[in-house]
Amino acid sequence: MLKGKSLIEPMDLTLAELDEILKLADEIIQDPAAYADRCKGKVLATLFYEPSTRTRLSFESAMLRLGGSVMGFSSAESSSAAKGESVADTIRTVACYADIAAMRHPKEGAPMVAAMYANIPVINAGDGGHQHPTQTLTDLLTIKTLKGKLNNFTIGLCGDLKFGRTVHSLIKALSRYENIKFVLISPDELRVPDYIREEILMKNGIEFMEVERLENVIGQLDVLYMTRVQKERFFNEADYVRLKDSYIVDNKKMSNAKNDMILMHPLPRVNEISVEVDSDPRAAYFTQAKCGMFVRMALIMKLLGVE
Ligand code: CP
Repeated sequence: MLKGKSLIEPMDLTLAELDEILKLADEIIQDPAAYADRCKGKVLATLFYEPSTRTRLSFESAMLRLGGSVMGFSSAESSSAAKGESVADTIRTVACYADIAAMRHPKEGAPMVAAMYANIPVINAGDGGHQHPTQTLTDLLTIKTLKGKLNNFTIGLCGDLKFGRTVHSLIKALSRYENIKFVLISPDELRVPDYIREEILMKNGIEFMEVERLENVIGQLDVLYMTRVQKERFFNEADYVRLKDSYIVDNKKMSNAKNDMILMHPLPRVNEISVEVDSDPRAAYFTQAKCGMFVRMALIMKLLGVE
């Protein structure tokens, strides 16, 4: 039963709940008009203390397409956070006006604090370099739609695996499905955090390898998940400049990939995927962005208990 729950990280959902959301998202894709007023009279608050295009707008589009309304702020500067208001006070206030809230915050754990103080469901829309559970729902729906399954495949995750919260959440979620092999491709400085390697992968006996060169492994992958080097999480500019173009997928690299590999990216991209790849039928990142809206429609319905 998801009604009234908050979603802070992927493990807040059981596998059955996850599958329930993906199933509903698929039903919405098949017949969006049937859901056009399921959330009539309900209000979603989007509380974004950090920049966003896809997450905020897909949440807002999701609620509007369900017949509900949206309100919120898109930067800390345009809210009373700029005057020093705490997350706890903000969410208690917002809960007076909204039925559900999505929060993005640069501080890890801020949406969890909000959920502790709120009497409405709070959805983590990305907290610092920590987790991004609704991107994971988006990614799972994309893989399921394009590959037809969520088990028995090899996924390469490439780029900034240290600060990339989408990667942390996706590894956590996929670790619960059968026979997923992870190929972790990053510079030494940007390897996955120890808690992901030790607590998720090693503890659960999941097959994985860590490599530096994408060229050496691209031919083995069923899914390649590229990520941006997270400039905003670096402590110094020189390190960012040195690492930012570590990986660029172009047509030449794609020529060594399987014919049915799918190329994903949570976006925004900077240089990680050359625009020449956009016309390759294996490029799935804009389909992925669209899946984000449908899966957020399903999530909002489930957390609000709307049938
Ligand atoms: N994927 C994602 O989180 O994109 P935005 O930062 O644009 O929301």
